[in-house]
Amino acid sequence: MKIAIVDDTPLNLVLMEKLVGHHPGWTPLPFSLPEQALAWCLANEPDLIIVDYMMPGLDGLSFIRRVRAEHARDDVPILMVTASDERKIRYDALEAGANDFLIKPIDAHEFNPRVRNMLMLREAHLATRQRAEVLADEVRRATAEIQARERETVTRLARAAEFRDPETGAHILRMGHYSALIARHLGLHRDYVDAILLAAPMHDVGKLGIPDYILLKAGRLTPEETTIMRRHPVIGYDILKGSGSAIIQLGASIALSHHEKFDGSGYPRGRAGTDIPLEGRIVAVADVFDALTSPRPYKPAWPLERAVAWLKEGRGGHFEPACVDALLANWDEVLAIRERFGAEN
Ligand SMILES: [Fe+2]
Ligand SMILES: [Fe+2]
Repeated sequence: MKIAIVDDTPLNLVLMEKLVGHHPGWTPLPFSLPEQALAWCLANEPDLIIVDYMMPGLDGLSFIRRVRAEHARDDVPILMVTASDERKIRYDALEAGANDFLIKPIDAHEFNPRVRNMLMLREAHLATRQRAEVLADEVRRATAEIQARERETVTRLARAAEFRDPETGAHILRMGHYSALIARHLGLHRDYVDAILLAAPMHDVGKLGIPDYILLKAGRLTPEETTIMRRHPVIGYDILKGSGSAIIQLGASIALSHHEKFDGSGYPRGRAGTDIPLEGRIVAVADVFDALTSPRPYKPAWPLERAVAWLKEGRGGHFEPACVDALLANWDEVLAIRERFGAEN
């Protein structure tokens, strides 16, 4: 236990240093200059401070106030040394944050038990603090585990939909990252960016409810088949809606809105502009861009320039302009995502 002793009277200082030094485990740190003591106490963590009231320069009251003003030192016990007739000063010292007093002249019978009491207080406080840290650690670990499981569940759900769909696993990874890239460059909160990365891959889970003869049809869909195909946003929404998970909630919104167009010509609800949820506007750009630049059974992959021209063409029509701009303005990151998750499937 480190005990800072602050007293300008050499006799008192030496006496207290000796009394403290007698105890194994107690280390006295004597200071005759209060400013020096204050600097040390703010830079280090003492376990107890014993401070005289009457000192030149910085008196005991000001000393205590300065220590207490530092948040990290507001729980270090402080003993103040006063004369027996300084009642008013003791009230002020309590107010300033002193925990107890030593009456001058110092004697060992009073000094030892009071210091011991203060150090017991300190130990109890340190034990509580350590317990709180252990608990906080456990909560962090448990939360991380829950989040990891949620991520896994969500990813597996997106993969289940993939089995029914000619779109590939690489597509859902890339469009998730494009969505996160757009969200980040729109200045959205980190939590939202992290959530959309996981939620965007669920955009087509509703295809689980579309019959094979339509989903796997090689040729052009008839108008009736198109009508059925266009139910996948609502089916996806029905699968995901009402979840307590923020990621799945976001996934529900994306499933429902990813085929809406900025000018109101999309489906299923024909919403326009900011009536389309922001995540729907973001994912529309990410999903179409990746679909264009990937090969499909019915078409080869478009060259990047052609896909870029398509996005520019659709800026303000199909797509929210800010989302197109966010993608095109960060082209290096787009290329890095293609590189990382493979552009050839
Ligand atoms: Fe879709
Ligand atoms: Fe897609």
